Amino acid sequence: MCGIFGLITKKKDVPVAKLIREGLQRLEYRGYDSAGIALVHDGKIECRKDSGRIADINKDGWFDSMEGSFGVGHTRWATHGPPVAKNSHPHLDCKEKIAVVHNGILENFQQLRKELSERGHEFKSDTDTEVFPHLIEEYIEKGMDLKKAVIETVKQCKGAYGIVVCHADTPDYMLVARKESPLTIGITPGETTYCASDIPAFLPLTKTAYILDDDEIAVLYPGQVEIFDIETNQKRHRDPMTVQWSMDAAAKTLDGKEYKWFMHKELHEVPRKIREQFKMPQSDIDAFAKTIMDADQVFITAAGTAYYACLAGKFQITRFGGPYIQSILCSEFKDHLPEIPPNSVVMAVSQSGETADTIEAVRYARENYGAKVCSVVNVVGSSLTRYSDHVIITTAGPEIAVASQKAYCCQVSALSMVALRIAELKGEMEKDEVKKYHEALIETGNVCDEILKKEDNIKSIAKAVSEKTNFYYLARGASMAAALEGALKIKEINPKAHAEGYAAGESKHGPIALIRDGFPVVFVAPPDETYDRLIGNVMEMKARGGLIISVVADFDEKISELSDYTIEVPIKNNKYAITMSAVPFAYTLQILAYHAAEINGFDVDKPTNLAKSVTVK
Ligand code: G6P
Repeated sequence: MCGIFGLITKKKDVPVAKLIREGLQRLEYRGYDSAGIALVHDGKIECRKDSGRIADINKDGWFDSMEGSFGVGHTRWATHGPPVAKNSHPHLDCKEKIAVVHNGILENFQQLRKELSERGHEFKSDTDTEVFPHLIEEYIEKGMDLKKAVIETVKQCKGAYGIVVCHADTPDYMLVARKESPLTIGITPGETTYCASDIPAFLPLTKTAYILDDDEIAVLYPGQVEIFDIETNQKRHRDPMTVQWSMDAAAKTLDGKEYKWFMHKELHEVPRKIREQFKMPQSDIDAFAKTIMDADQVFITAAGTAYYACLAGKFQITRFGGPYIQSILCSEFKDHLPEIPPNSVVMAVSQSGETADTIEAVRYARENYGAKVCSVVNVVGSSLTRYSDHVIITTAGPEIAVASQKAYCCQVSALSMVALRIAELKGEMEKDEVKKYHEALIETGNVCDEILKKEDNIKSIAKAVSEKTNFYYLARGASMAAALEGALKIKEINPKAHAEGYAAGESKHGPIALIRDGFPVVFVAPPDETYDRLIGNVMEMKARGGLIISVVADFDEKISELSDYTIEVPIKNNKYAITMSAVPFAYTLQILAYHAAEINGFDVDKPTNLAKSVTVK
């Protein structure tokens, strides 16, 4: 939520403003209602900001034509105050010498703002952020240097922040500090230093990075970084890491083909990303499996799409002999569990590793009740990895489209590997049986390749239903996760329609009342143990005029015959392939949602009101 990108360089003739603007555009998935840039130039701060998308604001080169040797930009997802120019970041102090951008929420800003106003500071925005430059200004007036002033300022602030501070009178460096909001630093040693909310922002420029921890402040010089503990002001040594993601991961090109949308490109990456996932270190799978088996109680938590990956994963783990796992949305976690029993494990799943509610849930369980934390995360070094005992890194690579999809496929693949390892360790299933399930799981990448070959069929179905404004997605058992994920995808990126994922057996208790002629009902119908009961639900919907869209195995006969439209998933006709088909079935629904949104002309990558990393609670 909110994207930050800053840059300081000693290289001459660098188009600083343009580079910052481009970095911000690579971060627009974090927020896109307004944007601004502040540059330090000749002892002054020049600040330009406005509401709207960056490309529109910069239409006549408004950002690119700014002059300055270093500075910072921000793309906003409004929290405090509507998305208008005055609330856009950066925010300045009274003398317009200090520029600050902020990601996070300050809890005590009203009190601070009142006190600062009483002392004569003039506020120009409705934001919580604006207290930062004014507080820093005061501490500098008291004689502190910029670093000390920022340290004293953040000590006054309660809540979450990732901030960048530039001062017109300190042209050699800028400062970044963080608590509970992400901030990463990229560096071309001896030349240029970048700071950004997410690594993809500087990925085309460098792969060398530092991750800032909570309660740290860093001084960014051109091509050099010094990190300090905010509490003690002690310097901390940190080795840079090399980002494993490829430089072109932040572009819309794949295999030489340019995609219109990141989401489409990312959906096409799924087969290869899943194959990479299956090569994850055995030691990580073992650590998860053993920790889960040793626990007295296991919980699994996440938000959004990652939560549906939890549902798919927990189903597999229990099916293969693991314990029953209680799934709880991370935003509900604390309220549902006023106490956590001893020897519990909390599994957390997150693409970003920065979702505030997910982090709060695991910290609550770990810090208050000593629960062990096993997390499945896509971003190396993200906050969630630091609160975890064991981590499985998903191999999805940067996911830029706001609506998560390839991350889901990797998360479910990883959790399925854990499930099979549990079966192996428990030894209750014949080794040969486990091996056959494993072989079927490994086929997932190939199955997804085959699904892509049928994309035109999925697209034609999307076109046929593109005018519809309501959908049900019904399923039973293991496929519930896919139904919920399919419906969420429609809600996220095709906001013309409301879609609801529902247990098919439960649909008689309410949803069926809405069924009229032509009301689309999507059935997720693999030929598993629920199939025959699902036929009954298809018949019920059909009898009331429902337009039946079924996602079935390609050897299906019964449900496809009852359907108006059918998407065939090419899996083998055996129990191993059927049991391991969670990803392919969900994947088809992600592709369906993509095409519905694209046909309807929506901004597929940046849906209205949504942000990729929800770093506020
Ligand atoms: C937001 C995104 C979703 C994502 C969810 C959880 O709502 O738009 O795509 O599934 O957050 O994010 P996480 O990074 O924790 O997986």
